[in-house]
Amino acid sequence: MSQSIAISQATRYQNAALNYYLGLTDSPFLHYGYWEPLPSGTEELTISRLRSAQQAYTDKLVSFIPSGTKTILDVGCGTGGNAGYLLNKGFDVEGLAPDPFQQERFLSYTQGKAKFHLSTLENFNGNFHYDLILLSESSQYISVLDIARCSTKLLNAGGYLLIADMMRSNSSYQDGIFSNCHDVKELLTALTESGFTLVKCEDISTQAAPTIDLAVANFQRFGLSTINYLADLSAIAVPPIHKLLRWAYRRWLKKIVTEGLDAPKIFEQNLCYQIQLWQISKS
Ligand SMILES: C[S@@+](CC[C@H](N)C(=O)[O-])C[C@H]1O[C@@H](n2cnc3c(N)ncnc32)[C@H](O)[C@@H]1O
Repeated sequence: MSQSIAISQATRYQNAALNYYLGLTDSPFLHYGYWEPLPSGTEELTISRLRSAQQAYTDKLVSFIPSGTKTILDVGCGTGGNAGYLLNKGFDVEGLAPDPFQQERFLSYTQGKAKFHLSTLENFNGNFHYDLILLSESSQYISVLDIARCSTKLLNAGGYLLIADMMRSNSSYQDGIFSNCHDVKELLTALTESGFTLVKCEDISTQAAPTIDLAVANFQRFGLSTINYLADLSAIAVPPIHKLLRWAYRRWLKKIVTEGLDAPKIFEQNLCYQIQLWQISKS
């Protein structure tokens, strides 16, 4: 049951990356997870440990949900991993994402027990008010002003906004693979000025970081060796194509690949991963 909506090119790129990730992990979650205990060496950086970390992350999110919460709008719900878990915990959950592929997976994963809204948060015209809005690794795709504006419109008085995401701790980091993440200070200012109060905040950078290490290790082991193998094959079979591909790689891909391999260092120096619980004023 897919329906077409206008999806921006940026969102289509993001969706392509998400679908790729999904293929690799075969997990209902699209988030970094919470590695506890931390892996003691690279041999413990495995997809099966990532799946356990993703489950632990969802438990962690649930521990932030204030008692009395009944209705939740899961914004950027992905394929329904978090929503399915929240339904099992007895919450009334609705999901929202701008992607028909995720819509199909979400509805199947939640077995029709949760409504799905095919929309961006910015264009969502729902008239229901929720007790809590969840942004699990989706805040980085939406401007801070839109997060504040839309949450204010969609929450009950005294309702909560739960954000878990990678954020920029270094404001001067503005260009590169993680630069779409929000500046911690800008997010704080936008939400505070819109009448939200920060109730609870936890930094889980250390427990999220192994997923970046795992991605880099897998890319080094499988991605780069596959690229090198294909390059060797094309150099033997079709040398002119090999020459063209080598030029294209140097022109467009080399910088992205180098930056990707550097991701753990970039994260450590410029970013953090926080879970923030905000409450909107009661009047
Ligand atoms: C990294 S995934 C996180 C999925 C899920 N919340 C989780 O924790 O597993 C990011 C999600 O944000 C969604 N998204 C991207 N732009 C959005 C927007 N403008 N409004 C709402 N959701 C958006 C994506 O389609 C995707 O579902």
